[in-house]
Amino acid sequence: MSPENVPDPAQDPQPDPALAPALAELLASAEQAALHSYSPYSGFRVGAALRLATGEIVTGTNVENVSYGLTICAERAALVRAISQFGPEIRIAAVAVANLNASASPPCGACRQVLAEFISPDAPVLFPAADGLRSMPFSAILPLAFDMKLK
Ligand code: THU
Repeated sequence: MSPENVPDPAQDPQPDPALAPALAELLASAEQAALHSYSPYSGFRVGAALRLATGEIVTGTNVENVSYGLTICAERAALVRAISQFGPEIRIAAVAVANLNASASPPCGACRQVLAEFISPDAPVLFPAADGLRSMPFSAILPLAFDMKLK
């Protein structure tokens, strides 16, 4: 087989047959988004896809910065894009995260807190874990989100 014919899983993701079709589609969207990653400092290419309660899929990728600290994660990039596109009433029904580095990448703590504002507690969050793809309800990955109650 010539190198041109070797399948590239990043370009041509094969859906996991055990995944529900809607989650497989969301994961494929996250993988696709990761192809746009701007990550010259870490080389870690992440994509995230949000399924909105209205059915739309919105994706994001990580955008790094030479200052390092101003880097934006894929999950937050997707969230900001979703609100910019569909407004502040959106609800997130499911999330998929992917990376092109064959590594674990659960959403970081900051992204979890930011997602908490717009996501249903029972929304599945699909991400690559150390032992393979994993899906957990959002409330299990962030059980005690900060929520300001003034009284
Ligand atoms: N990153 C994400 O995009 N999402 C996360 O939840 C954690 C980390 C990105 C940020 C940075 O560009 C690279 O991964 C390495 O930390």
